Parts: sequence; structure tokens; C-alpha cells
Amino acid sequence: MAGTGESILVTGAAGFIGSNHVQYLCESRPDARIVALDALTYAGNMENLAGLEENNRFRFVKADIRNADALTALFEEESFSLVVHFAAESHVDRSIMGPEVFVDVNVRGTLVLLELARKHKIARFCQIGTDEVYGSLGPEGRFTEQSPIQPNSPYSASKAAADHLVRAYHHTFGLDTVITRCSNNYGPYQFPEKLIPLMILNCVEGKPLPVYGDGKNVRDWIHVRDHCTAVDAACRKGRAGEVYNIGSDNEWANIDIVKRIASLVESKTGKPRGACEALISYVTDRPGHDRRYAMDSLKLRHETGWMPAYDFDRGLADTVDWYLVNESWWRRIISGEYRDYYDKWYGDR
Ligand code: NAD
Ligand code: DAU
Repeated sequence: MAGTGESILVTGAAGFIGSNHVQYLCESRPDARIVALDALTYAGNMENLAGLEENNRFRFVKADIRNADALTALFEEESFSLVVHFAAESHVDRSIMGPEVFVDVNVRGTLVLLELARKHKIARFCQIGTDEVYGSLGPEGRFTEQSPIQPNSPYSASKAAADHLVRAYHHTFGLDTVITRCSNNYGPYQFPEKLIPLMILNCVEGKPLPVYGDGKNVRDWIHVRDHCTAVDAACRKGRAGEVYNIGSDNEWANIDIVKRIASLVESKTGKPRGACEALISYVTDRPGHDRRYAMDSLKLRHETGWMPAYDFDRGLADTVDWYLVNESWWRRIISGEYRDYYDKWYGDR
């Protein structure tokens, strides 16, 4: 499908995965023009794209995906061959505190983009979805692309609705679409509201490590770079109208991840053994907390030849190093709007 010499729109490009994807595309697609769009919400950060402004194939556009006028002007100015749609409200806990913006951005924003992609006959639209649309698993089995859609949080319900619109635009209007659904990502530039960076930073700062419920909820972790290569494989080689699960067969109970992070931070910062683990604090569970996710990604692997490359031990240790080295990046975040959210959510638990 998409080859070199093309023009790619990446939405949500200043967020965690979007910025990693833009970096990846700039490295791996020397002939492609990359247009990075982001509204720069609390989660978007231009520092995540630092250095790319030197690249004359790269352009950043500050715009809201719900703003049809701004996006129409952009689609008229550029000739996109591929849209990779990451922009979203992404944090489950925030969707519990305030669901409206999730529906507005994740559903209505996706609709605006689909309409423009259709009108401009974009060669391919890639919707970045999530494993959370499948709901929760018991102790056995994995989600396949045939698993029923059973979202349990306002966040996952809004992502499921967006996926359904993408499907509808393929079936009704013949838009060439692929939907990817990935498991939990970790790696550099992840906003510190999410489990792994939150625990690293709280270890460094000697703050409590808030573990929801009994800590035995299971997530299937993948390095963000493996997610990027998987999305690229789906964009290049995936079949139109298809859904592709992405995962790297790496399930962990939350409490075990937290203990590993505690031990890594202790050894890397010279804190006494056990000092960080002693900060673990079991707190009131997240309402509607999905028990277990696990992805079967054989379809993508068989059809495109994609394989994850990261070893989790190495990837987690590198991620801890990244946050230790990039303290000024996260200090600027935790001193801003994020502090109010943190006090409100964790203050009540
Ligand atoms: P993130 O919150 O770090 O980044 C989201 C980005 O979207 C931010 O830069 C934000 O400014 C931007 N954005 C939000 N509203 C916007 C709007 N109205 N217009 C334009 N830009 C807007 O999220 P992330 O973790 O990087 O997730 C990116 C995508 O990947 C999301 O669609 C998410 O559902 C999906 N996903 C995430 C994971 C994960 O583990 N983080 C796993 C699977 C899928
Ligand atoms: O599975 C993919 C999804 O992963 C993405 O679609 C979402 O955008 C992304 O935010 C992520 O959702 P989760 O809810 O799984 O991620 P989070 O980092 O918020 O939480 C991971 C697990 O850790 C979950 O079981 C809840 C638990 N947790 C989280 C936080 C923030 C805690 O125990 N304590 C915490 O303070």
C-alpha cells in the first residue's frame, strides 16, 4: 500500500506513542513527508518532537481534530496518502472523572478525520485502537480479532465507537482502512499518569506507590517501538478493512511490575535495598477495573512478517534509565496542570 515518496499525516504526534511513531517514520522513511498534528492538550508536549524541526521533510501543525475548518484547510494544502490516527484522550482514570471529552475527541474527532479522508480519497486510513475494546479476560485465553467488543470504561467505549465508525466508512464509502489494536505500551516519553512512569517517578521522589485493588490485574506489555513497527507493518502490508491485534506475549500482574520497578530504581540510584518497595500502598480499586488483557497477534505476524524486537527486562531497565536521565522533562510536567489531577484522583483513594 503505502510506499516511499508519500505524505503521511500523524495525529496525536506530540503524545507518547505518536511522537515515538514520528521519530520512527523520520528514521525509516527517508523519502516521506511527515506532517505531525496535535492540539497540545495536557498530554501533548513539543519537547517529545525536539530536533525534528531541522528536518525539511517534517512539519508540525497545532490543530484540534474536532476543528473541521482547520483540518479542511490542511487537507487542501497537503496531499496525504496515509493518515495514522493516534490523537485521543487516552487515560482510563480521567475518563472516569469526566467522560464527555472522551466521546467528543475520540468519536467526533475521528469522524471529522474520516470525512476528510473520504472526500480527499486518501489511499489509507489507519485507526490506532486498543485491546481495551474487547473488555476483560478471565485467567485463560487471549483476545483475537474475533473476540466480542465489550468495552468497560468510558475511554474504551469511546475507542470502540471510533473503531466502529472506521469500519462503517470502509463498508459504506469504500475508504481503505486498517484498525490496529495494541496492548499496554511502555517506553520513553510516556506521560507520568500511566502505571510504569508513575511508579518510576514516585520511587525516585520517595512517594507512595498507589496499587489499585489487590494488585493482581494483568496487563500485556509491549515496548512502544515495537508498537510503531507493528503499525507501520499494518499500514504497508495490511489488508483493507481489516483489524490487526498487536502484542508481544508479555503478561504481568501489576504488583510484580511495581516490585521490579522498585528494585530497578533502588539499584540504579543507590537507594537502600527495599526502600522503594516499602512505598507500595494498596489503594481503592479503579471502578470497573478490567482484570486481565492478553493479545493474540498471530494475524499481523502471519500476514506481514512483523515480530516484536524488545526483550522486556532490557526494555524496562532502559525505560527506568530514560526517566532518570530526562528528569527535567518530567519535572516540568509534574509541576503543571498534572499536579491538580494527581491530588484530585489520588487524594480520594
Ligand atoms: P497520549 O495521551 O500520550 O497522547 C495523545 C495525544 O493526542 C496528545 O499529544 C494530545 O495532545 C493529542 N490530542 C488529544 N486530543 C486531541 C485533539 N482533540 N486534537 C488533536 N490532538 C489531540 O496517548 P498515547 O498513549 O500516546 O496513545 C495514543 C493512541 O494510542 C491513542 O489513540 C490510544 O487510544 C492508543 N493506544 C494507547 C496505548 C497505550 O498503552 N498508551 C495502547 C493501545 C492504544
Ligand atoms: O491496554 C491498552 C491501554 O493501556 C491503552 O488503550 C490506554 O490508552 C492506556 O492508558 C493503557 O490503559 P491502562 O488502564 O491499562 O493503563 P494504566 O497505566 O492506567 O494502568 C495499568 C494498570 O495499572 C491497570 O491495571 C491499572 C493499574 N494502576 C494504574 C495506575 C495509574 C494502578 O494500580 N495504580 C495506578 O496508579
